[in-house]
Amino acid sequence: MRKLFLTILACCIFGCMMGQESKKTTATSVQMTLHNKATSTQRIPKEIYGHFAEHLGRCIYGGIWVGEESEIPNEKGYRVDVLEALRALKVPVLRWPGGCFADEYHWMDGIGPREKRPKMVNTNWGGTVEDNSFGTHEFLNFCELLGCEPYVNGNVGSGSVEEMAKWVEYMTSDADSPMANLRRENGRDKPWKVKYFGVGNENWGCGGNMYPEYYSDLYRRYATFCKNYSGNHLYRIACGASDYDYNWTDVLMRRVGRQMQGLSLHYYSVLNWNRKGSATDFGAEEWYAVMGKCSEVETVIKRHCEVMDRYDPARRIDLILDEWGTWWNVEPGTNPGHLYQQNTLRDAMVAAVSLNIFHKYTYRLKMANIAQMVNVLQSVILTRGDEMLLTPTYHLFKMYIPHQDAEYLPLHFETRQIRDKNNRPVDMLSATASRAADGTVTITLANVDLESDCKITISLDDDKRYDVSGSILTAKAINDHNTFENPECVKTTDFDGYKSQKGCVEVVLPAKSIVSLRLK
Ligand code: AHR
Repeated sequence: MRKLFLTILACCIFGCMMGQESKKTTATSVQMTLHNKATSTQRIPKEIYGHFAEHLGRCIYGGIWVGEESEIPNEKGYRVDVLEALRALKVPVLRWPGGCFADEYHWMDGIGPREKRPKMVNTNWGGTVEDNSFGTHEFLNFCELLGCEPYVNGNVGSGSVEEMAKWVEYMTSDADSPMANLRRENGRDKPWKVKYFGVGNENWGCGGNMYPEYYSDLYRRYATFCKNYSGNHLYRIACGASDYDYNWTDVLMRRVGRQMQGLSLHYYSVLNWNRKGSATDFGAEEWYAVMGKCSEVETVIKRHCEVMDRYDPARRIDLILDEWGTWWNVEPGTNPGHLYQQNTLRDAMVAAVSLNIFHKYTYRLKMANIAQMVNVLQSVILTRGDEMLLTPTYHLFKMYIPHQDAEYLPLHFETRQIRDKNNRPVDMLSATASRAADGTVTITLANVDLESDCKITISLDDDKRYDVSGSILTAKAINDHNTFENPECVKTTDFDGYKSQKGCVEVVLPAKSIVSLRLK
């Protein structure tokens, strides 16, 4: 009898470890340890919560900018509803104008009286005519209104060194110089502070189809003329690799080295570039498949970091993940070049799993920019005419605000793991923790499992009984999403499924949910 019991027990444990999925209705149990007394030197930079806005589809035009003459309520041409929603999200940094658009953008076309600005064709994104009414002033003033750092991406692919050098001077110089005076003529006396400057985008692809050796040389040349004016200190970001291209990182580290402050990386959670799949019409198999793909960013970040460590053991050059997120088929009936997609609970879960991973690597990863801010790819906001809705990803980002600039606290736990249809491992539980300057500890837990609740016992290494408050993001169905007819279908609500005792918190995490606990 005892032997039979032990055999069954061993099978269960083995089954879990080998990731054999069996339908469960009961809760799984996880022991978690948080060394909350320890101090850590690793901080989660607020820039991990960065955004990206490209001249693509309705991201800028219609999403952020409607112009002063619009009937849509606006402040100096910016949508008031969107501006307020973004302020509440505490956006720390915004990358612009692309993406692929950056390497065909000529900034001088976007300054001066709007009616005189030349038009261009946005060849990357649906051949849409771009009237340049949103340019340098409109972007940098938007960042000021939002209270975020601008991250301007320069043009290496089709622009000249002179053009890039002059742009930096135009934005940041306070001298009696040609570009600073031109800016003054255009209505802005004082220069803006522009810290982050990207020297090209995806120059291995849409930004010029270059080899890394050639781009490295170009980077050195272009970056040399991106000067520091009037007390502004540029943080120059070189175009980095996509996904698994570790050779690109290797070449850039070897040939560019300390001439860059940051090296970028792009990683999208796409399963198949030819058949991306529907944003809203999917089942459990597709849920787990994208969880597997988004979790793989951990291996990708780790390996790029290892390459960087070989050349820069002191970690002076940062890794900047300036494009990440989901990429699905466009919504039926919309322009395929405008990348307008819906956003479900699954997207919020991808964001949770991804952000939890990013926190771990913040010893080198110093910025991440979700693609993109409004109406494009994994947006936090969707608009239709004068209507606006907040996506599940918006609510997830809002839930994670306490982690911005907080001290990273490692969590120790073992989770059940399965294999998705592509044989990628998927952890059923993903978690992260941090401590804010006022001592509040935030623990964010994501139960990826669609079937089982997860009972977690979190041991803390002090004897304190904490005051806990919680919030939860979940939905009835995995593909629930917010529509203009039902904009509050998926949103964060209060959560009380926890018990706080001396030195320990017990929490029951419902299936497919993300829970945030705040311990005071
Ligand atoms: O975010 C959409 C596009 O994806 C960007 O323009 C490009 O950099 C990437 O390929």
